[in-house]
Amino acid sequence: VTRSVLVGTGSYLPARVVTNDDLSHRVDTSDAWIRDRSGIAERRIAAEGEVTSDLAIAAARHALAGTDVAPDALDLIVVATATPDHTFPATATKVQTALGAHGCIAFDIQAVCTGFIYALATADAFIRAGQVRTALVIGAETFSRILDWEDRATCVLFGDGAGAVVLRAGEGRGDAGDQGILSSHLHADGRQHDLLYVDGGPSSTQTTGHLRMQGREVFRHAVVNMAQVVDEALAANGLTVDDIDWLVPHQANQRILDSTARKIGLPAERVVSTVARHANTSAASVPLALDEAVRDGRIRPGHLVLLEGMGGGFTWGSVLVRV
Ligand code: ACO
Repeated sequence: VTRSVLVGTGSYLPARVVTNDDLSHRVDTSDAWIRDRSGIAERRIAAEGEVTSDLAIAAARHALAGTDVAPDALDLIVVATATPDHTFPATATKVQTALGAHGCIAFDIQAVCTGFIYALATADAFIRAGQVRTALVIGAETFSRILDWEDRATCVLFGDGAGAVVLRAGEGRGDAGDQGILSSHLHADGRQHDLLYVDGGPSSTQTTGHLRMQGREVFRHAVVNMAQVVDEALAANGLTVDDIDWLVPHQANQRILDSTARKIGLPAERVVSTVARHANTSAASVPLALDEAVRDGRIRPGHLVLLEGMGGGFTWGSVLVRV
């Protein structure tokens, strides 16, 4: 069977580090409050003029550099973002031009913090259908541009960044034959709109708007939904949590990561966490964490890795991959 094999990962973070103490000069907050409630110590913020496609292109180049896939051999580019450069065209078309991958399929996907999971599942479907052989999947965000910097309950939780993976159609490694994406599981529930949304948009207000969130309610749903898509992935593949080498969850909040790990019975040592240094980078958080754990040698060839996310909509989902 044709599977989507993960042949490269990459990431990019803007240079500017903003600490909790820096934020305490801007809003009434403290390093202790932010660390205690979220586990976040610092975040990266894009420079003036540095846009989402800049981050996406840097992450894409980083991912492609570790592979033998030439940019002009790409068949598909999918960018997951809720903070595109422009209302249209898709940020993916800017990435395509910068890479010189003219003519291939390129589009954006909008599922907020679950965006990368949705994008990866979509690219996998194109590959398994035989429609493309190589795909570049990117999560890239500049949430700093849609934060209300007067609202201490939200502005301390997010950061900017991008992560990317390169997929190639393959038959799997050796006898095992189970290398690549094994399954994906996607969900949405639009009834939860008011718990996490942006109060602007081209059709409603003709403004960009700001992120609005009922944090406590989001927290409650996040743990339930993230645990559900882990169980679903395990059940679909006849696995137990002991079979999972690494969980790479959306990095919203250390307390959500800890509660989810406890709920599914996975030791915290097998959960990749970058939230302390990146904060919540929305669709970028999963590929950023994945790239970090691949590059520092925690995630190795043959490992079974479960990626999962949850975000505004609500949307939530998981992708199980043998690397
Ligand atoms: N600094 C100091 N005090 C603050 C801050 C701040 N930055 N923000 C809020 N407070 C205050 C509130 O005003 C409130 O004060 P009050 O009791 O006098 O009214 C108090 O702290 C408690 O506020 P709560 O919102 O009840 O605090 P809670 O313990 O729920 O923590 C938090 C808030 C961190 C937002 C938590 O609810 C959370 O993590 N929720 C999940 C949200 C999330 O991660 N969203 C990411 C997007 S969704 C996703 O990616 C899954």
